[in-house]
Amino acid sequence: MLNIDVSKARSFLSDEEFNGALEKAKESFELVKSGQGEGAEMLGWRTLLSDPNDAELEKIDSLATQIRADADVFVVCGIGGSYLGARAVIDALSPFFGNDGPEIVYAGHHLSGKYVNQLIDYLEEPNDDGEPKSVYVNVISKSGSTLETALSFRILRSWVHDHYDNPSERIICTTSEEGGVLNPLVDEYGYSKFVIPDGVGGRFSVLTPVGLLPIAVAGIDIKTLFYEAVSKYEEIEKDPSDAIEYAAARYALYKSGKDIEVIASFEPELQYIGHWMQQLLAESEAKDGEGMFPTISTFSTDLHSLGQLIQQGKRNLVETFLIVENAESTKQIEKSDKNIDGLDYLAGKNFHDINSTALEGTIQAHTEGEVPVIKLIMEELNAQHIGEFIYLLEVVTAIYCYCLGVNPFNQPGVEDYKSAMYKLLGK
Ligand code: PA5
Repeated sequence: MLNIDVSKARSFLSDEEFNGALEKAKESFELVKSGQGEGAEMLGWRTLLSDPNDAELEKIDSLATQIRADADVFVVCGIGGSYLGARAVIDALSPFFGNDGPEIVYAGHHLSGKYVNQLIDYLEEPNDDGEPKSVYVNVISKSGSTLETALSFRILRSWVHDHYDNPSERIICTTSEEGGVLNPLVDEYGYSKFVIPDGVGGRFSVLTPVGLLPIAVAGIDIKTLFYEAVSKYEEIEKDPSDAIEYAAARYALYKSGKDIEVIASFEPELQYIGHWMQQLLAESEAKDGEGMFPTISTFSTDLHSLGQLIQQGKRNLVETFLIVENAESTKQIEKSDKNIDGLDYLAGKNFHDINSTALEGTIQAHTEGEVPVIKLIMEELNAQHIGEFIYLLEVVTAIYCYCLGVNPFNQPGVEDYKSAMYKLLGK
């Protein structure tokens, strides 16, 4: 179960504000559903759920199984929507320390020379048994021309060609059907290729090979993830009321002057789910001078840095909590001999009980401090609930953007830094 609770946001809104937003969100959902809204040619993230490509899922799964059996390191080379979804799901569903199967590392998401040097040194380093590492590279770029990704891929590709007899089996390109820089490389060297459908933008692409291949290589059940998203899609098509209410609450809060959204969680493994949400929302909504600024906080850590600001700073914040109801936690607090540290009052509880109480106390304090709170509650942290969560967030983002009157699916502003950079680089 994935629940949405807007009750602690609703109390900050008048009936007029909320009901007006609700009407707008209903109309906006109809625009999404009918494909009549702006940017409707980019609704492919819905089509892939209404008409699942089982053969492609099988193909991804079977390549991932092969790679898992052979690889020590799997490099995911991409930026923005071409890597955040994979990283979000992998971090959320993998152990904090140690993991079966290949180590997943990321590249192509910045231009740090130090990082590239150290990554190549790391790939060069033999395994503990003295054998060379078995490395696979998945480059992901819809345009195939994003500088950060293309440059890292050039270095990685050359390293793979220098180190293995069969480089074409170790490089997988995920890109558009045609065009860009990766397609000619696929043609020339025979690398494996997965296609990013034209109608799916980067930040809506986690349920395409963009996200699914790395996620499957990490050992996560992509069929459950994908088909739970399909179920959520079907559920929302029949009864969109929760999604509409969530989009309406967020929209009404924004209109009432809340222009910063703190995406917060007490579960540190959800930090990259926060990054994925941050991109999904920011690149979709922030146009024509509109949009909330989404920022990510991991609690309790950030309660000791940002907590003061959230509690008593400028009252323009909304907090969206990502909550796991039944998080894994077996360590029970036991009574100690002398109770010198004074913690015996917690005896009998486990860390999750205490973490949940910290969450409850924080929501209480923050709402009393006039910060409206939206809760997104997953019963457990697993592929099923993450699959549902992904579709929910995608559709709510689209609904919310149509309420604002902006095209959810473009990101014209991102081009400006690229033009300035390319000009300075002499492209
Ligand atoms: O959401 C988006 O469209 C962007 O974040 C892109 O994913 C990102 O800029 C990477 O683009 P590309 O996949 O073309 O390299």
